[in-house]
Amino acid sequence: MARHPTLDLPPEEVHHYEDISEVPWDIQNYWAQRYKIFSKYDEGVWLTDDAWFGVTPEPVANKIADHLAAAAPPGRSVLVDAFAGAGGNSIAFALSGKWKRVYAIEKNPAVLQCAKHNAEIYGVADKITWFQGDCFEIIQTHLMDLAPYSVLFASPPWGGPGYRSDKVFNLRTMEPYSLAKLYNEYALFTEYIALYLPRTSDVKQLAKVVKDGQKATVQHYCMEGASKALCIYYGAWNVE
Ligand SMILES: C[S@@+](CC[C@H](N)C(=O)[O-])C[C@H]1O[C@@H](n2cnc3c(N)ncnc32)[C@H](O)[C@@H]1O
Repeated sequence: MARHPTLDLPPEEVHHYEDISEVPWDIQNYWAQRYKIFSKYDEGVWLTDDAWFGVTPEPVANKIADHLAAAAPPGRSVLVDAFAGAGGNSIAFALSGKWKRVYAIEKNPAVLQCAKHNAEIYGVADKITWFQGDCFEIIQTHLMDLAPYSVLFASPPWGGPGYRSDKVFNLRTMEPYSLAKLYNEYALFTEYIALYLPRTSDVKQLAKVVKDGQKATVQHYCMEGASKALCIYYGAWNVE
């Protein structure tokens, strides 16, 4: 019989906080929103302390998954999630039922364990193929055969100067990967690229990487009346 995921032992840096007294102060606001982040939190969701800051909340992840499912052209049946994190988006993509396979890549082994465990809680672990490593390398070494059937989603880290303070977020100095790095690398793999970026991202910079005659569409994803983030869809997605 399969073990219930909550009975597995988490690595040292992975937690399932049950009471606010256990939660580090800088995560307490996120923990207070835990059911918006993962509605099944109480079933034993795992996160590292850093993963709380980057995980896509479930309603947003589900909306993005709906949009990608509707907007992907026929024949594109594989989805690559380049920065799987704790699994927020990968789980939603698998739950959408659209994809023959979801390939999820995560560099940090402990965070990847969270994603696998959380996908078990949501009943979709067997629909996802996991890779631990650098997405740019893994795509080149393991996924190029799937390129003609693939779309790519990426929610990169939003590091760099001014993410919280600047009115317009500079995608050129985004760390550790600039928009140009992400776009240029992923364009070698597929022409269907969706990037999840700060809501204040510089629209001029978003447009600049688009080649003449190619299409790009921006969608904002909102919660409680405010934009949470945006997705830029590069390529001939059928975005309404
Ligand atoms: C914003 S988080 C992704 C959150 C994810 N969408 C979720 O909902 O849980 C970005 C993740 O990318 C990972 N990462 C950073 N560089 C990477 C790389 N080169 N390849 C794969 N993963 C990477 C980080 O460890 C981090 O977990």
